[in-house]
Amino acid sequence: MTTIQFEKINVIRNDHHILHDISCLFPSATITALIGPSGAGKTTLLKLLNGLHSPTSGEIYFNDKPVSTMNLLDLRRHAGMALQSAPMLPGTVFDNLNLPRTIAGDALKEEEAVRLLAQVDLEDVPLTQDIKSLSGGQRQRLSIARTLVNQPRVLLLDEITSSLDPRSVKEVEKLIHSIHKSQQVTIIWITHDVDQAVRATDRYIMLKDGRVEHTGDSNTLLHSDVPAVREFIEGEEL
Ligand SMILES: Nc1ncnc2c1ncn2[C@@H]1O[C@H](COP(=O)(O)OP(=O)(O)OP(=O)(O)O)[C@@H](O)[C@H]1O
Ligand SMILES: [Mg+2]
Repeated sequence: MTTIQFEKINVIRNDHHILHDISCLFPSATITALIGPSGAGKTTLLKLLNGLHSPTSGEIYFNDKPVSTMNLLDLRRHAGMALQSAPMLPGTVFDNLNLPRTIAGDALKEEEAVRLLAQVDLEDVPLTQDIKSLSGGQRQRLSIARTLVNQPRVLLLDEITSSLDPRSVKEVEKLIHSIHKSQQVTIIWITHDVDQAVRATDRYIMLKDGRVEHTGDSNTLLHSDVPAVREFIEGEEL
């Protein structure tokens, strides 16, 4: 169980002040939607949590542990990230599932790989199958399975369903919920889809221009009378 706390986080890159004094809490074992207009700083915030970026000032805590004191390998074991593009290496399904272990100088056992595939409903896909022949939905599920290899306690999702058809979207949402339920992971889910935020997440944090604009329960989103939230929702519905 991991609670994530941001304390006065600033990120400045190439003279661009991307995140301003972000202080917020992601309670353990909850699913938080990270929403906000394009360029608001959502991906930058997520990348701070698995060491792809580091803050210019401020501190992030996993429970009481400052993230700045964790080494990169431990941090990435603790927090797995899945992306919209589900990037894959050329090779087989197994090669790609094995990647987090290869990075750590280890290898996945075949039975572990089979169990991971079953966990994401890919039990019919052989480990030897070429990655190129997977559908978009299968590829995204494999990418999620890959983030589970190290049994992360934090799952970071960056628009993982935005290139999928509606049926695959629902399947991936169901999958994330079953992982959440069985493993009590803390999930931060960037989505542009307000209906998805309402359906699939407990609470939301809205960023705008690199600042926390509003937070609340996701089921209040569609009826919010907060001007910035309304503006975002109406913009997304166009
Ligand atoms: N390395 C960098 N140097 C300078 N500016 C950057 C860098 N990385 C990101 N930015 C800028 O920071 C801002 C926030 O980017 P970020 O990718 O976090 O936004 P986002 O909310 O994820 O947007 P989107 O919804 O389009 O994915 C953007 O204006 C972006 O151009
Ligand atoms: Mg982004």
